[in-house]
Amino acid sequence: MDEKKTLYSAIQPTNNLTIGNYVGAISNWLKLQDDYDCYFSVANMHAITVRQDPAELRKKTLGLLALYLACGIDPQKCCLYVQSHVPAHAELCWVLNSLTYVGEMERMTQFKDKAARHAENVNMGLMDYPVLMAADILLYQAQVVPVGEDQRQHLEMARDIARRFNGAYSPTFTVPEGLFLKVGAKINDLQDPQKKMSKSCENPNGSVFLSDDRDTIIRKFKRAVTDSGSEIIYDPENKPGVSNLITVYSVFAKKSVKEVEAEFAGKGYGELKLAAGEAVADVLDPLRAEQARLLKDAEYLNSVLKSGAERAARTAGRTLFKVYKKIGFYQI
Ligand code: TRP
Repeated sequence: MDEKKTLYSAIQPTNNLTIGNYVGAISNWLKLQDDYDCYFSVANMHAITVRQDPAELRKKTLGLLALYLACGIDPQKCCLYVQSHVPAHAELCWVLNSLTYVGEMERMTQFKDKAARHAENVNMGLMDYPVLMAADILLYQAQVVPVGEDQRQHLEMARDIARRFNGAYSPTFTVPEGLFLKVGAKINDLQDPQKKMSKSCENPNGSVFLSDDRDTIIRKFKRAVTDSGSEIIYDPENKPGVSNLITVYSVFAKKSVKEVEAEFAGKGYGELKLAAGEAVADVLDPLRAEQARLLKDAEYLNSVLKSGAERAARTAGRTLFKVYKKIGFYQI
């Protein structure tokens, strides 16, 4: 049997995850966990590059771990851990910093965006964010990194840094490949269906969060913007609102777009909105309940984190040892 390839991904605990993130990220991880040797971390070190409330950060860190587990990510198959529990991330980041140029970090799209949004706090960590992300990936010699489009530039940077180190010293790091999943389903904003659903939309009714309760979910869908006309057909160009609702319903009720169109032939927009809302709530309700149940079991969560951190530290430590040797750090 072939050895499984190594896969790495992470989410910041402070991201308020939407149903778009669920469809685009976590639900895909579920399918990948059997085929790859997976490392999934809670990126709390990335999170502090913008100001965080300490108590909230602590709570959200555990909340995200509980969500991974509630979604069905299996700690027996995957290494689940919190980034700050493995000191090698910070250590490798420091080494890679000396191979990364200020100019290239200043040109990163996300840095420019965040610097504009947090003009009062353009700190070194914010600028260094892509180097820490490179360290995350390279420590585990990951071959495959599933990320969204918004992380493409960061992944490209990680590849550059890996090649740069390998060229300057000798082959050390695996150059990772991005896995940009063709989700088939991109979920858009319910109030502005030409735009991707995001965590930070202006209209709070536009995004459905994994933390929303059933009533909130259904209310948001009832208020969703639709289009002129009354026919329920999938036509993103001319009917972005209705098409987005069809997508959501088809993904969450596990039906094809054709089946959805047939089911709603002759019916009204109101019925589609309700069906979409209920389908989403039917998937999220048990996830949220399981997450809440797990959060009461600190002992179990800590045991997952402890064994995850130990396993991650072993792999990461091997890579860091090689790196220190190659760059000439005297070892005792
Ligand atoms: N920057 C990623 C995001 O915000 C999260 C992340 C941190 C990550 N380290 C990573 C993703 C390593 C993939 C690999 O989405």
